Amino acid sequence: MSRSIVIAIDGPAASGKSTVARRLADELGFTYVNTGTMYRALTWQFLEENLLMEEASIISRIQTLPFEVWIDGGHVEMRIAGVDPVEYTREERVNGFVPKVATIPEVRQILTDKMRSLAKHSHLVMEGRDIGSVVFPQTPYKFFIDADEEIRNKRRKAQGEIDEIQSRDKIDSSRKSAPLQVAPGAIRIDTSHMNVDQVMESIYSELPKMGLVLV
Ligand code: DC
Repeated sequence: MSRSIVIAIDGPAASGKSTVARRLADELGFTYVNTGTMYRALTWQFLEENLLMEEASIISRIQTLPFEVWIDGGHVEMRIAGVDPVEYTREERVNGFVPKVATIPEVRQILTDKMRSLAKHSHLVMEGRDIGSVVFPQTPYKFFIDADEEIRNKRRKAQGEIDEIQSRDKIDSSRKSAPLQVAPGAIRIDTSHMNVDQVMESIYSELPKMGLVLV
């Protein structure tokens, strides 16, 4: 596929971006890519190898770590040294360490290359923190999904997860390398008082204005 369409969905933790990104991909027949899962998978691996708090060790390990990401049957598959890490990516210890791993430019570069390579094979709805600003800055289809902090906290608790989203957002927004930000040209949607159908409606009303012809 020479010219894939990439819809970038960025936003802070528990803003509702995964729900809308997954649904949008489903409805459009695009591949859904959760890039947070990639950062989480590497964090889990580094925890397993007791490498955390040692940035130099992480930088050295990432150069040789066998880490593969590909699309199979419309779904993203991942392996680290032959192991599928997805079931470990929501562990509480991963929530705690992932923003630190995500501050390391060498880690970001390797993951950014892998994210870009996925667009060679499929149209994508890709969610993350820097998709519209760094990974695919040239895509015209960019959204920033946001919600009040209190509401995001409630949503995360309702999912039964212990996740210090404030401190994660603070690190994600203030890091030097590819911080969380509203990308130039992105449409910001505040989902605090919207249900999923309303957010989808808003996205579908914006996409044609961005130039995407939906048939
Ligand atoms: O979307 P998430 O909460 O699962 O993401 C986990 C962490 O990964 C988040 O705290 C920051 C990092 N991340 C990032 O830095 N860049 C991305 N494109 C996606 C996630």
